[in-house]
Amino acid sequence: MKQSRLKSRLAIFISGRGSNLLSLIRATQDEDYPASISLVISDQDQANGLSLARKHAIPTHIMENDETTLKFLADHEIDIICLAGFMTILHSSFLQRWQKPILNIHPSLLPLYKGLGVHERVLADGASISGCTVHHVTAELDSGTIIAQQEVAVGKNDTAHSLAARILEEEHRLYPRALKKFIENRTG
Ligand code: GRF
Repeated sequence: MKQSRLKSRLAIFISGRGSNLLSLIRATQDEDYPASISLVISDQDQANGLSLARKHAIPTHIMENDETTLKFLADHEIDIICLAGFMTILHSSFLQRWQKPILNIHPSLLPLYKGLGVHERVLADGASISGCTVHHVTAELDSGTIIAQQEVAVGKNDTAHSLAARILEEEHRLYPRALKKFIENRTG
């Protein structure tokens, strides 16, 4: 069994439901997974994902300002931040002070459909393929280097709701897989 300090220590940033957080919690329960979740940070004190974190005995923190959050990250010796439905934009002042990787999951095939309202725009364009992307976070929204993507076919009868639900299922598979690949490529 791997010693836990040999695993990358993750902080997951959320704003709401936390289903991607749950998929990462489940992945990290495998003793061979190369990361463990040390902290869950939310910009919303009522986020459902916070209850999930508490249920799994993961320390939580409500983001009030960059200063306190960065101190929390340092105190918990965090190696990688994973954004998972986190709705606050991390500004360049935060990114300059946090010199380690930040990953995000986005429900489109980037560079297509950055930002919000993705599925509505996909359907309005009549696109036949959409999907999800795990990518590095940079100061420019949804524009960092792509780590992994998964395509999802758009059906003729899809609504934004049904498409979002099918893509979300793929997000739950993609994020743990992409993160694992990223960590293994880093550590050799
Ligand atoms: C996901 O679709 C994610 O790609 C997007 O926001 C949603 C968050 O869902 N950025 P959840 O909170 O992980 O359930």
